Amino acid sequence: MASPADSETWMTLVVQPNDTNPLGTLHGGRLLYWMDECSSIAATKHSRAVVVTVSVDGVSFRHAIELGSVVTIRARVTRTFRTSMEVFVEVWAENIPRNQRIKCNEAYYTFVALDERKQPLVVPDVVPTNEEERRLFDGAMRRRQLRLILAGKLKAEDADALRALFMPENPDSKK
Ligand SMILES: CC(C)(COP(=O)(O)OP(=O)(O)OC[C@H]1O[C@@H](n2cnc3c(N)ncnc32)[C@H](O)[C@@H]1OP(=O)(O)O)[C@@H](O)C(=O)NCCC(=O)NCCS
Repeated sequence: MASPADSETWMTLVVQPNDTNPLGTLHGGRLLYWMDECSSIAATKHSRAVVVTVSVDGVSFRHAIELGSVVTIRARVTRTFRTSMEVFVEVWAENIPRNQRIKCNEAYYTFVALDERKQPLVVPDVVPTNEEERRLFDGAMRRRQLRLILAGKLKAEDADALRALFMPENPDSKK
């Protein structure tokens, strides 16, 4: 067992001309690649195994990132299931001369740890240690069920955590 802080991983990069799109801002695919790299290191730290990306969701591009910006990426494992791990990734862009720093992106990456035969490997649990880590831990079950439904790997009627969110038990039914 380990806390999210044990897998926390930071990456800092500068947006170079070959990272940009025709508008001169950071190419979205390049940023997703950097986020994948940072989050796979977090998942590797947690599992101590080779990991592969199995899904990416909740990606939002809130602000374009300019050429020359310093990009900081933070990733940590929020929760594990049997062989899979959810990693929460956050991205900030900084213009150091102007003393400006803004949060630009967030996403959830899911990784599966593999053994030497490239078969899914059971991973250690995550133990949240503060309020934010507990919030991410609790939400991870709902996000997992949603992504498995969308991937056709879970029936909607079996998604108990989602059902509890959207259809809380009628308080009158207990009377
Ligand atoms: C990851 C992989 C080995 C899983 O194989 P599989 O036959 O689907 O194995 P399983 O059905 O046992 O699933 C393994 C885990 O992945 C999870 N999973 C599978 N598909 C998923 C999806 N779309 N989203 C989230 N989790 C998923 C399962 O829930 C299971 O997690 P759990 O053990 O914690 O419950 C296989 O899908 C694969 O090799 N995918 C390609 C990975 C890749 O090439 N990534 C890009 C380069 S890194």
